[in-house]
Amino acid sequence: MSPRPLTVALQKGRVQKSLITLFTRAGIDVSALEADGRHLIRESADGRMRFLLLKPDDVPTYVEFGAADLGVSGRDMLLERSYDLYQPLDLGIGRCRMVVAGPVERRAIPDVPRVATKYPRVAAQHFSRRGVQAEIILVQGSVELAPLVGLADLIVDLVETGSTLKENHLAVFEEIAPISSVLIANRAAYKLRSAEIAPILSALAAAIQ
Ligand code: PRP
Repeated sequence: MSPRPLTVALQKGRVQKSLITLFTRAGIDVSALEADGRHLIRESADGRMRFLLLKPDDVPTYVEFGAADLGVSGRDMLLERSYDLYQPLDLGIGRCRMVVAGPVERRAIPDVPRVATKYPRVAAQHFSRRGVQAEIILVQGSVELAPLVGLADLIVDLVETGSTLKENHLAVFEEIAPISSVLIANRAAYKLRSAEIAPILSALAAAIQ
């Protein structure tokens, strides 16, 4: 008998709907996720799996430290911080792009741009690779505001539909990386609970369109 149900860390919010669709198509019972309420631990009907509902930034941490066996994390989080975990499957959901953006009327990137972002490491690496000395300013959200009020010249952020950029008179200057949701696994659990994890991986791989 396993000591506890297989534990999967998931992020609340945006990708939850497509995640439920994908897991359901893979035959994994995630009906517990659809129930209303503020319970942060949801258990499957057969009691074999449980789901932790977390802020996106915290999902890899729970998996790395073994509080969850599996997780679904945006590739943005995995690029920004180094975690010691497996990334066995790209789920192909939550697709968006990490980009450099700025005011549409700005034609070129300044010599030493000030760049507002939630992703200071990704931004610093990007500009350093291009040989541009950038001053990185950490913000936690509504990043598009920064160039509008003089906090920064540019932003590094995620773009999905492009409507937030458009409505704030910003445009994409450079592409950094395609982003999507990735299945992540705790290194020890991946080996010790492979009998439970392997079928989940195969079912998800088959369900990805
Ligand atoms: C994300 C991202 C952009 C926006 C992009 O922010 O940081 O701001 O979505 O989406 P779009 O291209 O479809 O407009 P989110 O809504 O998660 O909130 P935040 O600004 O607080 O990070």
